[in-house]
Amino acid sequence: MAAARRISSLISRSLFASPASFSPSLGKVGRRGGSASRFSTAVALDEPIVPSVLINHTKLLINGKFVDAASGKTFPTYDPRTGEVIAQVAEGELEDVNRAVSAARKAFDDGPWPRMSAYERSKILLKFADLVEQHMDEIAALESWNCGKTYDQSSKGELPLFVRFFRYYAGWADKIHGLTVPADGPYHVQTLHEPIGVAGQIIPWNFPLIMFAWKVGPALACGNTIVLKTAEQTPLTALYVAKLFHEAGLPDGVLNIISGFGPTAGAALASHMDVDKIAFTGSTDTGKTVLELSAKSNLKPVTLELGGKSPFIVCEDADVDKAVELAHFALFFNQGQCCCAGSRTFVHERVYDEFLEKAKKRAINRVVGDPFKLGVEQGPQIDSKQFEKILKYIKSGIDSNATLECGGERFGSKGYFIQPTVFSNVKDDMLIAKDEIFGPVQTILKYKDLDDVIKRANNTRYGLAAGVFTNNLNTANTLTRALKAGTVWVNCFDVFDAAIPFGGYKMSGIGREKGIYSLQNYLQVKAVITPLNNAAWL
Ligand code: NAI
Ligand code: MG
Repeated sequence: MAAARRISSLISRSLFASPASFSPSLGKVGRRGGSASRFSTAVALDEPIVPSVLINHTKLLINGKFVDAASGKTFPTYDPRTGEVIAQVAEGELEDVNRAVSAARKAFDDGPWPRMSAYERSKILLKFADLVEQHMDEIAALESWNCGKTYDQSSKGELPLFVRFFRYYAGWADKIHGLTVPADGPYHVQTLHEPIGVAGQIIPWNFPLIMFAWKVGPALACGNTIVLKTAEQTPLTALYVAKLFHEAGLPDGVLNIISGFGPTAGAALASHMDVDKIAFTGSTDTGKTVLELSAKSNLKPVTLELGGKSPFIVCEDADVDKAVELAHFALFFNQGQCCCAGSRTFVHERVYDEFLEKAKKRAINRVVGDPFKLGVEQGPQIDSKQFEKILKYIKSGIDSNATLECGGERFGSKGYFIQPTVFSNVKDDMLIAKDEIFGPVQTILKYKDLDDVIKRANNTRYGLAAGVFTNNLNTANTLTRALKAGTVWVNCFDVFDAAIPFGGYKMSGIGREKGIYSLQNYLQVKAVITPLNNAAWL
């Protein structure tokens, strides 16, 4: 740590004059491709910049207190740039999940949170958003450090979006109410929208804070209490912000955070008899397990945000330069570790050759390096498991005779960096065109006409998202209606405002998060029927 340099000083010593301009809330695309020399100058991986963030919270958060695991066990959390340990974190298991669930149960059954006026609840959410805003640089640095995403993306994109989510759900808190129903007969009928109870939430490592916001925001706005299990790779930022929640006035036991592993802590939560709802984001396989654990325990309702193999369709009328840039962003953003990555780039045969040439050039010019250096576009993959998985898929692409246009190997000699990789001549039945690679590997496929691309784009077990690039309104309308996906972005990609619902068709999931739709996941509807003339019944 002696070599630590402050992020601020680093930014002033930035390698590049023009910073990357990604902003997920605005849906802008990244900076235009740099020159080859930029590529090489950015590659100073030998001396990783150590952010000056104090890691104060590494224990479990149960009933408003940071506590050790019952077993006393801890596990290491890593810096994906180097594979070195950042901190030891308390490892929650069954007994800790039990303690957290009983704290959440007590806070729900007897505590002030579900009984508080919704306006008071909304004020606590707003106060929390303010506190996060005050600590934004530090939280963004911690997120990038633990996750490997660029500091530019964390600080300018994800943290402002995180704050926006909580302000959005604070706005909903006092606008949730039932209906008066005009039933047949002499009855007064009303519906009460009540919080569902103790929500169990299991999140992944690719967007630790954004996933926290999607789940915690609506659950708290509706008056629920929570046990949230972070991903074992990225436990740090949830603990940091949970502390701020308590400073904002959140009562003890309302938000409990368990760090730990899936088969132990995650499974204990999903199968708990006293958890009333489970929300999960992660792989399709684990999603199936979570659904099964619910079925085998207490049939708690389950929402699932799972994998994807989303098509990005470049139409024949496309401005090729713009299409290349957007398709590049749709796949490579966040090191390709996005459930909705545009991971099948379908290009019309008329523009295919030009597109391929330029897409390859753009990937070669992608700036890989230390995510804390300004101008760097791509940091490391999250861990050795993902790193190996991606390299295996690249090998499979080569073995199946797709054409490797560029990349294909690790980048540097330590950490989990992978070269931006492009495959052309990809066929629909190749593994690289069917499976979620979850890495910086673009697969480019040629298509003939709209019928052809609609059929092939939908020929997948997934249905999370799709991208369409065209200036033709008829083409856009045809595709947006034909594609079986929960989100279709036309001439933009990865636009993630808090108000926009997100979720999948087919094996990409069950339910929708964000926006008004997310509230339904955290509410019970109770019908209350009263005779208009009570005396007539009694
Ligand atoms: P995963 O789905 O196994 O892990 C996600 C979360 O589920 C983590 O918190 C993990 O601890 C938990 N979990 C794991 N097993 C569990 C179980 N038996 N019961 C309850 N919770 C459990 O994903 P993993 O292993 O990190 O990555 C594997 C693949 O999943 C990736 O290569 C990628 O393709 C996909 N993935 C998709 C994500 C998305 O955003 N939809 C996010 C992360 C991974
Ligand atoms: Mg797993």
